[in-house]
Amino acid sequence: MFQAPLPKEYTELTSEETRERIRKAKQTLGKRLIILGHHYQRDEIIEHADYRGDSLKLAQDALKHPEAEFIVFCGVHFMAESADIVTPDHVKVILPNLAAGCSMADMANLFQVRSCWKQLEETLGDLSVKNEKWKILPVTYINSAANLKAFVGEREGVVCTSSNASKIVQWAFQNADKVLFFPDQHLGRNTGVKLGLHHEKDMCLWDPHQPMGGNSADKIKESKLILWKGHCSVHTRFTPEQVIEARKKYPDVKVIVHPECPMEVVQLADEVGSTSTIVRIVESSPDGTTWAIGTEINLVNRLAKENPGKKIFSLDPMICPCSTMYRIHPSFLCWALENIVKGTPVNVIEVPPKVKHFAKLALDRMLALS
Ligand code: 13P
Ligand code: SF4
Repeated sequence: MFQAPLPKEYTELTSEETRERIRKAKQTLGKRLIILGHHYQRDEIIEHADYRGDSLKLAQDALKHPEAEFIVFCGVHFMAESADIVTPDHVKVILPNLAAGCSMADMANLFQVRSCWKQLEETLGDLSVKNEKWKILPVTYINSAANLKAFVGEREGVVCTSSNASKIVQWAFQNADKVLFFPDQHLGRNTGVKLGLHHEKDMCLWDPHQPMGGNSADKIKESKLILWKGHCSVHTRFTPEQVIEARKKYPDVKVIVHPECPMEVVQLADEVGSTSTIVRIVESSPDGTTWAIGTEINLVNRLAKENPGKKIFSLDPMICPCSTMYRIHPSFLCWALENIVKGTPVNVIEVPPKVKHFAKLALDRMLALS
């Protein structure tokens, strides 16, 4: 989304002045305000967050303070939309920089998903009829636009995050013969394999730019899990060679990666999990342990700083920041907070009521299962 440049006043502040003004605005707003910070945010943002966490935890944290008037979400657009969908109407959710999107979420849009569903219907028959089970249920990763969550909610489907994907997809298979999973093929594939599916025999890849997603009708009929051809540009940088290299260099190393990494990387790792799971496992390991981590660099560096007794490094020596998460600069946070104080809130994320209604069904289904 488009973000107008910051007023000059904010770009000219020193980092210390910005920090002080953020603190002051936060103090003035008191209980009216909650600041949420995703684990990939830079330290200069995280220090102001009331809660930090992964996508699931932050969606749950957003619900903890119904008395708050404002949630300032230091994360990316789909996270702020999800917070707006699940919180009561009087809570205003603010994204400090509207240009903080997610390139993976942008890999699926409503037009493409509707077209996919129509083609699946032409192949499998009427999808709105339920016998013992649905023929197919849609599951969307939380890293998707609100209108895709609504598409899913309207069709009895559900949202998942990286920390509950196995539970959610398992639930979907209890209620349907097939699952359409979008937009992240890697999380979908890793989850399917964890649930005992074969990555080729039981799955197919849906390329939205090809008729039938690039599949034959037989392949669609055979597949249990249809994976959308989307990916995260940060996590697909990790390779099996990097795991092998880390083990060669540090024979006692433990490798932990995010499930958005390719299957070949996940299969070589010792542990796999959401950002909060990575934090929990690394923090609870004894001093003296060595960790190679396959996720965004701000989180890896913070873990290294907060756990000086352990050797912690990124699996990718070229380091890989999430450029959109990085757009939440402290100057934007300062600008957003001072505008709330002035009574002129900026960058309020408002999901249209009809989209909200169906998207909430899909998110509430997930929260009930989590
Ligand atoms: P988590 O839910 O694990 O924090 O993941 C969000 C994300 O965007 C990872 O790239
Ligand atoms: Fe999106 Fe990847 Fe950034 Fe996560 S790390 S917000 S999936 S681009």
